Amino acid sequence: MVASAPGKVTLFGEHAVVYGYPAIVASIDKRIYVNAELREDEKIRINAQDLRTSGVIVSISNGEIQITTDYGRTLSAIGYLNKAIELTSEYLGVRKGVSLEVRSEMPVGAGLGTSAAVSVATIAAYSACLGYELSKDEIARLGWEVEKSVQGIASPMDTSIATFGGVLKIWFEGNTIYRVPLHVGSELPLVVSYVEREKSTRDMVMWVKSLRDKHPELVNGILEHIGRTTLEAEKALVGGDLREIGVLMNINHGLLEALGVSSRRLNEVVHTARMAGALGSKLTGGGGGGASIALTLPDNIDILTNVLKLVTPHVFRTNIQYEGVRVNHLSD
Ligand code: PMV
Repeated sequence: MVASAPGKVTLFGEHAVVYGYPAIVASIDKRIYVNAELREDEKIRINAQDLRTSGVIVSISNGEIQITTDYGRTLSAIGYLNKAIELTSEYLGVRKGVSLEVRSEMPVGAGLGTSAAVSVATIAAYSACLGYELSKDEIARLGWEVEKSVQGIASPMDTSIATFGGVLKIWFEGNTIYRVPLHVGSELPLVVSYVEREKSTRDMVMWVKSLRDKHPELVNGILEHIGRTTLEAEKALVGGDLREIGVLMNINHGLLEALGVSSRRLNEVVHTARMAGALGSKLTGGGGGGASIALTLPDNIDILTNVLKLVTPHVFRTNIQYEGVRVNHLSD
């Protein structure tokens, strides 16, 4: 079986979504593919060439896999695969050995929702191998459990978009997830750039939590403003008002910067995009380095892309509103 799930860009509302505020997120035209084949033995074997980085150190203790790079970062994508198999097995009440092969069309751990796409595609491929056809709701919920269990805290945003695809307004209260598909009133010419990640999503989520514990009123105020920006942005997106969407992206970035989740390099890319005529630009995802998005009028996209390439080699244009998780037999 091969299952695939899309990456995503958070258009508005990352971090605030963890505290129950709404976010708007869109799936992109880059996917993670997971091939799964049942084994005769009980082992889980993972071949994840695209998830490797140089100087990787792997250690396994008490069934927990810890992978760190030379830079001291934790490459947790493999932890998500392992957890996805464990929780799916528990949910279905069946456990079989499986060989997994993972391929990614996008940079891993950059803030493009790859950990959620890996989790969702693994759940879908493994359950299909076992003969179960899980509903999208079940896959999204299991994916959320995987993220919470690996990261400690996570919103259901990334796993929902990896499962359902499209453009979603999303928020949650307790265990209830609310998802509203949005029909964006115009094409969104977006350019994604990314820079070396200094911190993981988990680090950044924990950072915001500690800042909120220390300064609850200030941080709650910022989170609430991010939530309000998202609601304003919903109107602008539905109305296809690119200029207004851009202004709101800039406001959202400023609020994320106030939370301390941007970085010097990210700000450099975000401000370069604005100088090159972007209508708006912001970091996307967890921050601490990683990905940012810039919105432009269609006739400026070449200039914007070329100027951004002067500050980082990792720049690509993207289209939104692609399909969510998909499962195929290897013979299809
Ligand atoms: O860095 P990513 O692509 O995993 O996005 C994280 C988004 C956060 O809002 C920061 C965390 C979450 O669980 O929603």
